[in-house]
Amino acid sequence: MASLGQIVFWSMTILIILFSAIIILVLALTFTRQSPEVTSFNISPVGNISQDVLLSCILLQKNDQEQITRVSVTWEKKGQQGFVYQYKNGHPEFSDQNEAFQGRAELFPSLLAEGNASLLLRNVRMTDEGLYTCSIDSSNGGGKINIQLRAAAYTTPTFTFSEGTLDAQASRWFPEPNVTWYNHVHKVLEARTSLFQNSAGIFSVASMLQPINRSEVYTFQIGNKLVTAVSQAKVGDFDVSVRTYYTFSTASPSPASTSLLILILIYCICCLI
Ligand SMILES: *[C@@H]1O[C@H](CO)[C@@H](O)[C@H](O)[C@H]1NC(C)=O
Ligand SMILES: *[C@@H]1O[C@H](CO)[C@@H](O)[C@H](O)[C@H]1NC(C)=O
Ligand SMILES: *[C@@H]1O[C@H](CO)[C@@H](O)[C@H](O)[C@H]1NC(C)=O
Ligand SMILES: *[C@@H]1O[C@H](CO)[C@@H](O)[C@H](O)[C@H]1NC(C)=O
Repeated sequence: MASLGQIVFWSMTILIILFSAIIILVLALTFTRQSPEVTSFNISPVGNISQDVLLSCILLQKNDQEQITRVSVTWEKKGQQGFVYQYKNGHPEFSDQNEAFQGRAELFPSLLAEGNASLLLRNVRMTDEGLYTCSIDSSNGGGKINIQLRAAAYTTPTFTFSEGTLDAQASRWFPEPNVTWYNHVHKVLEARTSLFQNSAGIFSVASMLQPINRSEVYTFQIGNKLVTAVSQAKVGDFDVSVRTYYTFSTASPSPASTSLLILILIYCICCLI
């Protein structure tokens, strides 16, 4: 007769094998959904409204010495009729292009032979947000990749100092930004901030910090869920010196990777019991 210890041991073993099998299955599904032959340096770019944005799409070649002799590329957007851009038989094919992208989308034809099928989208609009698919078919292989474009407006804040007040202005922000001032020990400071929204929905921000101490560094942070700009401003005798850097949020994890995480968690809990 099997002892309780043996029963527990074997049921644990079976559970672990079962969960391993499920995890392998989920992994296989996750990785076969998109071909590994086509990749992108940024699958969740943030376009600055009214500026250009690059949607990166690259063919990974097994042998990059070999020139690509035949290539066709299509860019499509989920939920939209026609193509964003289509390239075949050695030239762009505009007959089935979606109107919204006419005159605003282009590839770099001279880079196609290297497997670079990145799309330059000019004059980004809010309505350009969405899921894009780049498909490459060539003499050296092919595949597709999805890219999630988000649209935001962001401008580098400018600073002025007069009569004991440090003034920050940021002229174009979207979605609605949140503003915070910090001192050099990262303590939040009180400031007077006003937001204006223009008819196109873009915000402009003015914020006044007072009183301030000369030659101390103040941090002005402005951001929303897509973009954050952090400026460090120091009031000198003649001007305000500023350093600004940006951070961009990455896209939320896909449902497949979320379910994978949950499975791994369950698996770990089971192993611990
Ligand atoms: C592809 O081309 C674009 C546009 O010139 C460039 O910005 C990007 O770095 C290129 N990518 C690679 C991997 O060469
Ligand atoms: C974003 O675009 C605006 C024009 O709409 C431009 O003034 C601004 O400098 C751009 N932001 C950055 C950080 O390049
Ligand atoms: C704005 O930022 C401050 C400080 O980071 C935070 O406490 C606050 O919750 C934020 N507000 C919104 C609406 O995100
Ligand atoms: C300026 O310095 C004084 C004394 O060090 C301090 O109490 C005050 O909080 C500082 N003001 C700001 C805005 O940092």
